[in-house]
Amino acid sequence: MLRPLLWRLDPERAHSIALWALRKGWLCRSIPLDERLRVDALGVSFFHPLGLAAGFDKDACAVRGLTRLGFSFVEVGTVTPRPQRGNAKPRLFRLPDDRALINSLGFNSGGADAVERNLAALFEKAGSEAARIGVNVGKNRDTPAQRAIADYVSVWNRLARFAVYGVVNVSSPNTPGLRDLQTPSFVRDVVGALLEVAPEKPLLIKLSPDEPDDALVELTGEAVAAGAAGVVLTNTTVSRHGLCSTKAGELGGLSGEPLRPRATDAVRVVRRAHPKAFIVGVGGISSGTDLLERVEAGADLCQVYTAFVYRGPSVVALILKELLREMEARSVQSVAALRG
Ligand code: FNR
Repeated sequence: MLRPLLWRLDPERAHSIALWALRKGWLCRSIPLDERLRVDALGVSFFHPLGLAAGFDKDACAVRGLTRLGFSFVEVGTVTPRPQRGNAKPRLFRLPDDRALINSLGFNSGGADAVERNLAALFEKAGSEAARIGVNVGKNRDTPAQRAIADYVSVWNRLARFAVYGVVNVSSPNTPGLRDLQTPSFVRDVVGALLEVAPEKPLLIKLSPDEPDDALVELTGEAVAAGAAGVVLTNTTVSRHGLCSTKAGELGGLSGEPLRPRATDAVRVVRRAHPKAFIVGVGGISSGTDLLERVEAGADLCQVYTAFVYRGPSVVALILKELLREMEARSVQSVAALRG
């Protein structure tokens, strides 16, 4: 009922209302609970392979509501050490003809304090088993590259205890210079520094689809050699290849259907080079077929964001039903059996 109404509003306003409704616990969906979908990874058991990507719940204020929609894990953030407003509005655009979004939010965030308060309240009320949480960590816009590691460390220091895994975000196109941190030496140093904070927590590096294949392979290799579990592939793209919407010229990162082929390829390439790296696949997944294709390409877990906007609060239930149909058609007995 809410969705057609939200669709008429400015996208950022619609997002705030959706978050508010989720916080209130008004939205709930039952999902297929099926042993074939279970994924044991990163030291825990996930009901199924589909989680919510970073950027939707930046301040971790609706984790419980999102879990009630069926997401098997929620990646909160990107969290910056200090609060910041992000870029000037308008900074979020729908491209319905392309089933895509463009955003230039720029890490609008309540900061690590706010997120710590929200997660502490969640754990106190519902216990640590209430949700599987990934914490996506970033740096403030005005922190120079030389001091970036201190930003990542300060956020991780506050939030690691709530997380099943941590993500180092070096791939958002909306913080000037952030993507320049995608170098082997930075990756090595930041992983080393974060592992000192919480040696037992799995770490992933989130990479850009705009990096060439060999860079993705090299950066993953560095991250794993430094002790990370693996990578999140991919963030949004600055490419505008093949779009038909009039909004295609807006600045920012593009997500959704147009990103799907590149994000799938990135997983395939990295999986081939690094059979043991842990890979979260994200970018343009919108159906059971897309999810199956990403797992076959080599993803261990997957995420959605844009499809949540286009398919609505039933997105997880719909995708999982489609996935189960596909698995039945192929007589596949588990998600793990699809991989590779
Ligand atoms: C994002 N994404 C994102 N990623 C990240 O690491 N930190 C962030 O803060 C955000 N913020 C954000 C805001 C908005 C409005 C969108 C649409 C996306 C990227 C997101 O996590 C994901 O990598 C991409 O959107 C690709 O997945 P989908 O949307 O095609 O399923």
